[in-house]
Amino acid sequence: MKIGMFDSGIGGLTLLKEALRQMPDEEYHYYADTDHVPYGSHTVEEIRKYSDEATGFLLSRGCEAVVVACNTATSAAVTFLREKYPVPVIGIEPAVKPALKLREDKRILVVATPVTVREKKLHDLIEREDACHRVDMLALPGLVGFAEKGDFDSDEVKKYLDKVFAGTDTGKYSVLVLGCTHFNHFQTLLKTYFDKDICVTDGKEGTIRHLKDVLEKKDAGTAGKGSVYYYESGRTVREKERLAFYESLIRHLDKA
Ligand code: DGL
Repeated sequence: MKIGMFDSGIGGLTLLKEALRQMPDEEYHYYADTDHVPYGSHTVEEIRKYSDEATGFLLSRGCEAVVVACNTATSAAVTFLREKYPVPVIGIEPAVKPALKLREDKRILVVATPVTVREKKLHDLIEREDACHRVDMLALPGLVGFAEKGDFDSDEVKKYLDKVFAGTDTGKYSVLVLGCTHFNHFQTLLKTYFDKDICVTDGKEGTIRHLKDVLEKKDAGTAGKGSVYYYESGRTVREKERLAFYESLIRHLDKA
């Protein structure tokens, strides 16, 4: 089966990697909206338009299900996409529910883009799940830009994070929720700002498990042998260097 995924850029590779692990025999079409990255600094209306374009494009390639591999686009556009398109649309959102079960001591910090932190979807999720009021949110608007340059641990990145966390008492958190798929690329570095026993979690596993369930119910046969096609805002990526860049980032996630 052909499965489409889109993100503003390289963040959704986190979900692609997990999909290849859980469902290695499908055919994947990965759309990085490089013309409009970062989504986190656009308006909700703009993100909805870009998500619509990405989904329409993936369907035109024959995809029978679409994963919104971006917390920001899920927050701004998943309801709209589900109403408009006749295929399953699976979105990722910050793993607040699993985080609350993971540790019952101390507080939980969700880091995400400014749009995700501002939008109603995350506020509703926290209100629904967090009866003890243990969850805080923090926007990290600068990280996506570094990630798109393939810069995951330079002095500049560290300086940025030093500044962001300077005003935060990170010792009061036992769980860090990565609420933006780009942030998985910075996992090791982010951990250094918290206590040694900090648990880091994200929504990738649950999202792909949900995709798998939906497809099993649809009784969709497998076919594709794990091949992946890449697009940048609707243009097929054919350059060897660019394909190698995406593949190296999927490998990098093991070390990140
Ligand atoms: N990777 C995205 C997310 O999960 C969006 C990053 C951005 O483009 O701002 O939110």
